[in-house]
Amino acid sequence: MTISVVPPHNLVIDAKDLTVSRGGAIVVEDINMQVRYGEFIGIVGPNGGGKTTLMLAILGVLKSYKGSVKLYGLQNTKIGFKSRIAWVSQNAANIPESSKITVRELISLGTVTFRNMIFPLDKERKESVQKIIEMVGLSKEADKQISKLSGGQKQRAVIGKALVSKADLLLLDEPLVGVDRKSRNSLLKLLDDLCHDQNKTIVMISHDLAAIKQTTHRIIYIDQSVQYDGKPEDLPELEILAGLRGIKKVHGEPGEETERKTELCCDEEA
Ligand SMILES: Nc1ncnc2c1ncn2[C@@H]1O[C@H](COP(=O)(O)OP(=O)(O)O)[C@@H](O)[C@H]1O
Ligand SMILES: [Mg+2]
Repeated sequence: MTISVVPPHNLVIDAKDLTVSRGGAIVVEDINMQVRYGEFIGIVGPNGGGKTTLMLAILGVLKSYKGSVKLYGLQNTKIGFKSRIAWVSQNAANIPESSKITVRELISLGTVTFRNMIFPLDKERKESVQKIIEMVGLSKEADKQISKLSGGQKQRAVIGKALVSKADLLLLDEPLVGVDRKSRNSLLKLLDDLCHDQNKTIVMISHDLAAIKQTTHRIIYIDQSVQYDGKPEDLPELEILAGLRGIKKVHGEPGEETERKTELCCDEEA
């Protein structure tokens, strides 16, 4: 008889009562969030709602004011697992025109560690760079300058750089910004493949609610605290979520009492 035992670190991310303060104010409060191996999570919420702050606190870049985060079962203040985590920051793909760096060179930078930094790229590192170039679908563009590529291709390149260290948890902060519709679909397909074929766990912040709904397994709506955590198809109407923070319509029916304009960043793209 086989007894299957789920290890306690089956959870990739385990945030408990996480509260983070920035500039003297609490911006993320009492977040309880668990992410399992192989999940693809979408994080949505209004501008300034604390999405980026949450990601930085998960990474251990920002200290928690209260609560804790475990990554792979270890406190995120420990360093042992950091190579398993890849983070692509907001605007990471905004590589200036003046930069002549190629896709292959940028992805190679992702292989640099404290130990190997003084040595030229060896065969093993070159092979992992080539493998990642193929994985992110940039074989034809490998030796082109990144600044000459489309928004979607640039995103693929920065995701490739993040993944080449063999990370299996990928945190993406707004990777769909500046990516046209066609490239966006193939970028989402890449993320889906990374999740299903390469066993990556993905947490993606995005304003593109339609894309998030189509692609992810679970949506977490953050507005200082978690307002929703569940299946994409059960996500309440944004007006209902906005109501949770006391926002009311400005343009109501004549005679209807109105307050502030419904202000949400999750514009569903047609
Ligand atoms: N470096 C900082 N210092 C002080 N406050 C900050 C800093 N960065 C962000 N904030 C504030 O924290 C809140 C959450 O910001 P952020 O996490 O960037 O939200 P989101 O990513 O959801 O747009 C906002 O009110 C923002 O003004
Ligand atoms: Mg942000």
